[in-house]
Amino acid sequence: MNTLVIFGASGDLAKKKLFAALYNGFVSRRLKELRVIAVGRREWSDGELRRIAFESCGKPSAQWQEFEKTLSYHKMEFSDAKDYRGLAKKLEGKGGVVYFLATPPEFFEVIAKNAAKIRNGGFKRIMVEKPFGESLQTAEKLNAAMQKHFAEEVYRIDHFLGKGMIRNILALRFSNEVFKRVWDKESIESVFINHSETVGAGSRPTYYDAAGAIKDMLQSHLLQMVALVAMKEPLSVDSDDLQKEKVRVISSIKPPAAKDVVVGQYDGYEKEIGKSSSTETFIAAKLSVALPEWKGVPFFVRTGKMLSDNFAEIVVRFKQAKLFAGAPANELVIRIQPDERIRFRFNLVDYADLQLEPFAMEFCESCEFGISTPLAYEKLIADCLQGHRTLFASWPEIEASWRLADKVVAIAKKSVLHKYVPGSGPKEAQKLFQ
Ligand code: BG6
Repeated sequence: MNTLVIFGASGDLAKKKLFAALYNGFVSRRLKELRVIAVGRREWSDGELRRIAFESCGKPSAQWQEFEKTLSYHKMEFSDAKDYRGLAKKLEGKGGVVYFLATPPEFFEVIAKNAAKIRNGGFKRIMVEKPFGESLQTAEKLNAAMQKHFAEEVYRIDHFLGKGMIRNILALRFSNEVFKRVWDKESIESVFINHSETVGAGSRPTYYDAAGAIKDMLQSHLLQMVALVAMKEPLSVDSDDLQKEKVRVISSIKPPAAKDVVVGQYDGYEKEIGKSSSTETFIAAKLSVALPEWKGVPFFVRTGKMLSDNFAEIVVRFKQAKLFAGAPANELVIRIQPDERIRFRFNLVDYADLQLEPFAMEFCESCEFGISTPLAYEKLIADCLQGHRTLFASWPEIEASWRLADKVVAIAKKSVLHKYVPGSGPKEAQKLFQ
């Protein structure tokens, strides 16, 4: 039997996403034969851990009692080498182990160093949660440390890559000849990538205030989405070929002009975090992918906290038809959350008055099958246990993303920080998108 060791199990991520993913995986059998050791610094018992996991899973079904037996708690100090002996006793000779780092980043290195010394009886891998560094420089240092202890067995998480519709972007683009033929500057007018949240900095004020929207969202999730939309067809679906094409896209993106960046902060943010701050809680930018096939096609990205809605989607807008002047442009909408759907807008003539009218073809995964796709972390943990790397970010992707994000941060620092009322968003961003 394999083991998942979660460092930082008493933190926010475990409560919000990991326990639910593990339980879901147990019920769906995608994560079967797995025991979970939750490691934390708090004085918890197995019972306490199971109670917290139960609460964070909503309404678990009859299988809960069986599932909870797979969960146990181990208390230790992450920085104390002696404390790893107790953990080693539980793991030695016992099959494959995945270490999941959900701790603050300052513990990543010391945990990797000590965990690497434990001799279990199978594969040994490490999953590293973002933020993977705070800048290019710190990310390089972190990467070197991780690779020193785990060599090629480092799995860098970008949980968006585990989401159902994001996993489907490649299938949509490359298994449907009809899209393959129209996927470049000849046919596409613009691309919009939008992630909007109604929550604020929430339970992680210290982390969020040091990061801000650019480091928290743009550097990772948004650039990954740009890469998946803009990458060329890879030679194969192997992770190396795929990641190579994504790097080609990310490293081609030039820093946007200052006029093409809008940053904002919601009213009440400073009160919420308890200090004055110039951290952006919103970013919108017009990016250009400087590759011949995308010349002149703007990629608009937008993300923020305390906006009017909770959703994430990608909209690919095609060029207008020439023969029918004024015909609405075709649009392909890839809705990532909360519902998972694909909608294609096209035109037909209404015979009554011979006017063109837009109609839609739609596939709504969540409406037809319910939420049947695995949760993002469920999929990522399952993939890591099997040694599949496709849905993880390679170091060259992260390196290229930080190279750009560092520059966007510098531009944002010199820009006006637009205040916005919670539930809205800076109106300057709407102008940019127009
Ligand atoms: C995380 C960010 O990576 O992604 C959070 O740190 C953000 O600030 C979250 O809220 C959004 O992810 P999801 O899956 O909830 O849309």
